[in-house]
Amino acid sequence: MTIRVDSIAPKHQDGVIRLAQISDPHLFANKHTGFLGINPWRSLSAVVDQLHQAEGLDMLLATGDISQDHSATAYLHFAEAVGPLGLPTYALPGNHDAPELMIRALSQTPVKYGRRVLAGNWQILMLDSTVLGLPAGHLALDELRWLHAVLESAPLCPTLVALHHHPKPTECAWLDQHGLDNGAEFLSLLCRYPQVKGVIWGHVHQSMDMMHEHIRLLAVPSTSIQFLPKNDGFALDRAQPGYRLLNLHPDGTLETQVKRVPGADFQPDPSATGY
Ligand SMILES: [Fe+2]
Repeated sequence: MTIRVDSIAPKHQDGVIRLAQISDPHLFANKHTGFLGINPWRSLSAVVDQLHQAEGLDMLLATGDISQDHSATAYLHFAEAVGPLGLPTYALPGNHDAPELMIRALSQTPVKYGRRVLAGNWQILMLDSTVLGLPAGHLALDELRWLHAVLESAPLCPTLVALHHHPKPTECAWLDQHGLDNGAEFLSLLCRYPQVKGVIWGHVHQSMDMMHEHIRLLAVPSTSIQFLPKNDGFALDRAQPGYRLLNLHPDGTLETQVKRVPGADFQPDPSATGY
């Protein structure tokens, strides 16, 4: 299969690619439908309002769980929400998505179902870690072979790898049973390549930031509900919807910060016991 490769030139003379990561909007076909006490259309819109104020963004990447109800309309809503940012926008699938439906629906919009993007001096690789019918993730052999081949072919290109599922435990037992089941194999492959600078994911609806050998591992809050960190059972956090900004410098340096919607407008249902 031929993989389409897009190129994005940095907007600024410093050559830095300014990337915004959003994740897990869990949208419904009906914009009024709530999700554990939060309206996910409104919370995504609040995040997009913040992104309008972020300076000089070069691209937007959504790391899965775009749709909560497996509707094509939810993907169209997503494109409607992020479209006014005017950014090259990519999305990869999460366990709540229906990848074939997602590809079809997004093909009607400017949002691209991402695979590989050359952005300034960097490459951004987007993986599909979904397993049909399961909340947990797995990188299929074809996916790992493709990753290996691309890394072999671009040894000098600083690389950011994006996927939906977490390759390292969160210290939330209920979430860790739904992580990437071959995360150790995935990370040991990446560790062989010094050009791999970071891995970003969604799925855990909370911020994480750690090092694994030379690689920065980063999770992002959801644009909808937040899961309470370091809690073994299902629990929602009162933290506000958020997103991650990454500055990818030409020399391979990665700078990042998590931002959240100000205020306390988005409060989850305290009686929720799962979803
Ligand atoms: Fe999610």
